[in-house]
Amino acid sequence: MFIYGNIGKNSEGHLTFAGLDTVDLAAEFGTPLYLLDEDLVRERCRIYLRAMREFFGEGSLPLFASKALSFTEIYRIVGSEGIGADVVSPGELYTALRAGFDPSLICFHGNNKTDADIAYAVRSKVGLIVSDCREELEALSAEAVRQGVRQKVLLRLSPGVDAHTHAKITTGLTDSKFGVPIETGAAGELCLYAAGLPGIELIGFHSHIGSQIADVSPFREEAIRLMDFVARMRKEGGPEVSVINFGGGLGVRYLPGDPAVDYRAALRDLAETVMSHGGGQTAKGIRFMVEPGRSIVAEAGMTLYTVGSFREIPGFTPYTSVDGGMADNPRYALYESPYTVYSANRASEACDTLTHLVGRCCESGDIIQKNVRLPRPKRGDTVAVAGTGAYNYSMASNYNRLTRPPVVILTDGRARLAVRGETFEDLVRNDI
Ligand code: LLP
Repeated sequence: MFIYGNIGKNSEGHLTFAGLDTVDLAAEFGTPLYLLDEDLVRERCRIYLRAMREFFGEGSLPLFASKALSFTEIYRIVGSEGIGADVVSPGELYTALRAGFDPSLICFHGNNKTDADIAYAVRSKVGLIVSDCREELEALSAEAVRQGVRQKVLLRLSPGVDAHTHAKITTGLTDSKFGVPIETGAAGELCLYAAGLPGIELIGFHSHIGSQIADVSPFREEAIRLMDFVARMRKEGGPEVSVINFGGGLGVRYLPGDPAVDYRAALRDLAETVMSHGGGQTAKGIRFMVEPGRSIVAEAGMTLYTVGSFREIPGFTPYTSVDGGMADNPRYALYESPYTVYSANRASEACDTLTHLVGRCCESGDIIQKNVRLPRPKRGDTVAVAGTGAYNYSMASNYNRLTRPPVVILTDGRARLAVRGETFEDLVRNDI
């Protein structure tokens, strides 16, 4: 009945999450409310870390792609598991550093870093900066020279691999705003050019083909193209390659019918492809990285809402309005993303009513999920949306001047506030 093992129901007929009663949590912290199962986050970090070390070698490392979920406490949690972090903006970097994250384990991304971003990242001593264009590499080189350091850099490649996922989350194609394409010859040229720039040390390559991918074959294809590129650059007198980062992208289950990805097996498969390339020669001396975001946190998240109205329209599917919506979860509006929805306070009752679950924003597209089944909703019911740990809080907005909900972390049968809910005062903080 329940999509993940951390969801259940208790003797009162209430939905439980990470062993806690969700109705009690809604009463204690209010709704909308983001919940995060810390144990599951830690478990996923460990699966990735062990698999990377076992299959790719001791120096290899997963980095948490923190665009999926960024606030101070999450960096403390993943940092304490010994994995690195991928940050994509100075704000994510600032948050990670505030949490005490080891900067040498931070990889700074982004397809357009400003001079100020670059100066901040270099000054912060981030382990790696990933770049994919000449202008930025030149600015980075000048800044590193100015600061008197040698900054380690990865070149982001566009491998020309179709990840067969939603068009808005595909990133590995030649026609993309990300990466320098291998196919056109531009990657080879930029690599040789960057290797000659002062202040930076080009030590390897990165690529990321897309997100929510359940099948390993596009990753194998990506790995082959990257390793071919490494071999070619070695022949052409390119830089010494010591790091390859394959990006993130392994998928999660949003619906009961979605495949459960075996992350360990996927990494083993990827490692086999990499390690056998060129008779095992190409991988020699290289440390490997991956950057999972969604698969670390999505299934560890749940959002609770309170029902305000159940609106029936003869001949159509009824609408159930809740006290959140696209401002705390824009993913249906953006990608028509599927989610599994539960009744939290009536988890034992028959789900006899088909309804669209919608938010409170002044926007017809403010839909959380269409065609869900619930016990006939009534005002005051608590509804739970599962699998919201990734790209919900991190993509939340203040549209309609809604306050962003709090984030509560659950572990050992206890709940602790990790992010306070915003207040009206927060909304006007920067208004003059
Ligand atoms: N590394 C890089 C360079 C990335 O661009 C991304 C995601 C990741 C790693 C992590 O990918 P993951 O393991 O989470 O699939 N907002 C969209 C997802 C955008 C993903 C962007 N990049 C969504 O809500 O589905």
